[in-house]
Amino acid sequence: MRKLRTQVGIVGAGPAGLVLGEMLARAGIEAVIVERHDRAYIEERIRAGVIEHWAAALLDELGLGARLRREGLAHHGIELRFAGRGHRIDFPSLTGGKEVVVYGQHEVVKDVVAARLAAGRPLLFEVSETRVEGIETDHPVIRFVHEGEETELSCDFIAGCDGFHGICRPAIPAGVLTAYDRIYPFGWLGILAEAPPSSEELIYAWSERGFALASMRSPTITRLYVQCPPDDDVAQWSDDRIWDELHRRLAAPGFSLTEGPVLQKSITAMRSFVVEPMRHGRLLLAGDAAHIVPPTGAKGMNLALADVLVLSRALEAFYRDGRSDPLDAYSDTCLRRIWKAQRFSWWMTSLLHLFEDDSPFDRRRQLAELDYVTSSAAAATALAENYVGLPID
Ligand code: FAD
Ligand code: DHB
Repeated sequence: MRKLRTQVGIVGAGPAGLVLGEMLARAGIEAVIVERHDRAYIEERIRAGVIEHWAAALLDELGLGARLRREGLAHHGIELRFAGRGHRIDFPSLTGGKEVVVYGQHEVVKDVVAARLAAGRPLLFEVSETRVEGIETDHPVIRFVHEGEETELSCDFIAGCDGFHGICRPAIPAGVLTAYDRIYPFGWLGILAEAPPSSEELIYAWSERGFALASMRSPTITRLYVQCPPDDDVAQWSDDRIWDELHRRLAAPGFSLTEGPVLQKSITAMRSFVVEPMRHGRLLLAGDAAHIVPPTGAKGMNLALADVLVLSRALEAFYRDGRSDPLDAYSDTCLRRIWKAQRFSWWMTSLLHLFEDDSPFDRRRQLAELDYVTSSAAAATALAENYVGLPID
């Protein structure tokens, strides 16, 4: 058996684990990241696309923002489209100059992986049989098989950054965690298409046929979503059917949707989920391992980054100043902001989707709320400040 030792063992090389690794390195704290998949898999996995104002600044500060600033698209607003008309929410004027950056999550992953490997910091791909032990002691261990060899990684702390289906959250003894959960009665069918975006900004569309979202990844690639049944099968969605549905749901006078070859197609389930607390003993959960949001507010990856910012500061206080109180406060500090992002994501989802059991009254209420949000400075400000990202401190 191979024996390794580090200060912080990180399970999972998603945005949470990777960015945590970089922040710890900057603070002079050693970490080893173990990842189940290979490098190509995590670098190609298409997921979130909107980076909050502060999160882009954090990546800059870590020296990881060069390509994001060069290739990412700064967005100063979004369009809410309903009843056949578009209404713009302008971020800078409502938030004191803030914006978001449209840049794929997998691009962030590529940038951080490249920086980590170039610096020679440990990142082990294709580990299997990962388990965590001794989390209630001062010497937790991560066990896994890597390159055919059983490995034991002794740590001071374990960061569970292994996503919603990971092994860290289930390693916490029964009865410790309280889970809060909501499953939505629909999913999103998402496509990546080789076509220039039809609009300069993202369009969130309410329609009689259900929600649609027009996003993008670059000046030549669009990312589009349509609300679909939760258990739908991608095989049911031919390219023609998808384009037809997008045309109908996004229709507005003077708008024309650009089509192009569909490069990728997938269906995402919609769920709100939080566990409390996010720490047990020496295991600290971060990102999707502890909470997920429905994607409508574009919060998933941003929440993961916020958690690991708080966590890295707490670990820095522990190692540099011998202080445990920031680690003790980790869960409460994160959860206060997480619940606000949960509320926002639930609200955006409820505002824009077609719920099967909606009555005509409910649909009118949604339209009235959309009208209010796009005509009241107070309501538009509430949307904008949540969208660009609530303060971390
Ligand atoms: P993850 O990115 O899930 O990373 C966890 C990592 O841990 C993975 O690389 C995984 O392979 C690894 N891992 C898991 N188990 C083990 C193990 N046992 N051992 C070692 N490694 C392990 N958010 C949005 O805002 N907009 C979107 O459009 C959007 N689309 C999404 C589509 C899909 C299909 C999914 C699943 C999520 C989507 N999200 C979206 C959410 C967003 O991508 C996540 O919130 C974000 O990835 C969270 O980052 P993370 O690092 O916490 O977790
Ligand atoms: C994207 C995803 C979202 O969930 C969202 O609200 C905005 C954009 C995207 O993948 O581009």
